[in-house]
Amino acid sequence: MSDPKQGVYYITTPIYYVNDKPHIGHAYCTVLADVLARFHRLFGVETWFLTGVDEHGQKVQDAAAKRGMTPQQHCDDMQSHFRDLWPTLDVANDDFIRTTEPRHERVVQEALQRLWDKGEIYRGEYEGFYSPRVEKFFTEEELIDGKCPETGGDVYQIKEANYFFRMGKYQERLLQHIKDTPDFIRPESRRNEVIGFLQKPLQDLCISRPKSRLAWGIPLPFDTDFVTYVWFDALLNYCSAIGLYHDQERFDRLWPHVTHLIGKDILTTHSVYWTTMLMALELPLPRIIAHGWWLIDKTKMSKSLGNVVNPLSMKDKYGTDSLRYFLMREMVVGLDADFSETAFLKRHNYDLANDLGNLANRLVKFAERSMGGVVPEPGAGSGMPHDADLQAMALALPGRVRDLVGDLRVEQAVEATIALVRRVNRYVAETEPFKVIKTDPAAAAGAVWMALEALRFALNCLWPVMPAKCEALLVAIGAGKPEATLDALAWGGLKPGGAMVLESAPFPRFDVPEYEAAPEVAPAAVVAPAPVVVPVAVAAKPAPSDEPPARIAFPDFAKVDLRIGTVLVAEPVTGSDKLLRLQVDLGEAQPRQIVAGIGKAYAPADLVGRQIVVVANLEPRKVFGQLSNGMVLAASDDAGPAVLAPARPIPPGTKVS
Ligand code: ME8
Ligand code: MG
Repeated sequence: MSDPKQGVYYITTPIYYVNDKPHIGHAYCTVLADVLARFHRLFGVETWFLTGVDEHGQKVQDAAAKRGMTPQQHCDDMQSHFRDLWPTLDVANDDFIRTTEPRHERVVQEALQRLWDKGEIYRGEYEGFYSPRVEKFFTEEELIDGKCPETGGDVYQIKEANYFFRMGKYQERLLQHIKDTPDFIRPESRRNEVIGFLQKPLQDLCISRPKSRLAWGIPLPFDTDFVTYVWFDALLNYCSAIGLYHDQERFDRLWPHVTHLIGKDILTTHSVYWTTMLMALELPLPRIIAHGWWLIDKTKMSKSLGNVVNPLSMKDKYGTDSLRYFLMREMVVGLDADFSETAFLKRHNYDLANDLGNLANRLVKFAERSMGGVVPEPGAGSGMPHDADLQAMALALPGRVRDLVGDLRVEQAVEATIALVRRVNRYVAETEPFKVIKTDPAAAAGAVWMALEALRFALNCLWPVMPAKCEALLVAIGAGKPEATLDALAWGGLKPGGAMVLESAPFPRFDVPEYEAAPEVAPAAVVAPAPVVVPVAVAAKPAPSDEPPARIAFPDFAKVDLRIGTVLVAEPVTGSDKLLRLQVDLGEAQPRQIVAGIGKAYAPADLVGRQIVVVANLEPRKVFGQLSNGMVLAASDDAGPAVLAPARPIPPGTKVS
């Protein structure tokens, strides 16, 4: 049966500069786009996924000159580092565009000509300071200590004739569009950033460079002494690749559904330059998702700083699937995250080697030993009450994953899936098929079938993140291929009799250098659903029981020193997505450092300035290698922890009683 397509999804990545080789930041963005594309295919949506390279402009011309090559030779060589990397990371893009391709250059010239004919472009005199590193002009006031305000690099004063796009006249329309379209720019914080940017008058945009200064670009069709400013050229790739002005039917089908995935570094060019260009070209406006940066020791990983992580060497050492898993699990879309190999190895060992790999391995080995190496009959399951619980959790997963991914909470979708894997592990411990087989083989077989079927649900939902390993594991557990859509994932789909074979451990453990013994804080998701006040900085606490705690006398309560604090600084703890390191004003001489397990519910920036309630006299302890001097109170429900706060501002240090 063909599945009816529900809508269209066209996702793009930035086209990367070919002035250097790709690093893990580029890999992250492209893998995320791939994961979103694969999820949308699973949701039954017609999907198109574009990536490519940006080959014109000063940076590329300079990089070519340094290598003693022509820009074209340099581009031909460099583009392959991107094009060839993506398949090795299991990125399945539908198209790859280079801005030196005729199909692109033609469209840029056509668009420029149309704008010129409409009077949207005019000739003028340009005076300003040019920063080659970001290929942007700044006014004198915008410079910081005479340097580029974005990079701190050198700028060059320039005065010359140029062409300008009447961007300024779209300011009001753009602001209105942002206000009318809540999901135009996600996440919310980035949307606010653009609204803030638009509070200043919006200038017209210089869109040309004299050929005498920069030869490497697309000539303006109406004045060939000039080439097109690289951004004006590059942004049009999203349209040229799908047929603007040459395959109008295809363009019209895909374009209204476009989502641009970008890093926050290029938010202005996309949400302001590009959006107003589209207004002038009378084309529909895109949706924009701006992700955060991978940081190394709190600074952005970038080619110019030389602190880059090479995705190829990570992949060669640890495998594509683990790398994709880490990138998707560790970063909250929109926020920054620290990249560390230790954090990577822990993720791999905990989630993939321990939880997923071991489970698959044990089930397959057991089936080989005791069940003829095939998927057993479901029968009546294990006959224990755990069956219903396991089945309910598995059945709920596809819908939950769909909601979370739609909300860009990819890391939570991954976590929800691994939570099911952990539940299967617990189910196996509860139903003990390895023991039960001696007394009740049918019940043991039923338990194994239940575990495999739930695991099949998890593997189908994890497939967009780790396509190769999930496909291999589905075969290993006798389930065959992944389902084409999540709608097709029905309980009972696992057929008895399928051969189960697993040659080797799917995720071998890696040694973690300088392994930290500190136990990880229990994830918020495993806290009992009933709202209870839990001290979130406590490590690995047992699930709260249903029994009310014993009564205590007032003097016992009075021993707990609860105080109002104000968060001064909040930052993520390297290697954990749950922990935030806070500096809290408790009215003392020095702020207190407190580590709190609330990182999944709060962006660090959202906490700064907030008031919280702190247990101030708790014995200081180390959490994840960080000193924590106190504890933040929070209440958790299904949506995660919510910090407690006074109902109106209260001076920091005030006692809570
Ligand atoms: O800006 N962490 O290309 P570019 C996460 N050609 N992502 C990162 C990152 C990091 N540390 N560093 C880079 C350009 N990225 C233009 C784009 S689009 C019409 C033209 C990712 O090679 C992130 O997605 O500098 C960022 O936006 C992109 O690479 C910039 O790549
Ligand atoms: Mg850049």
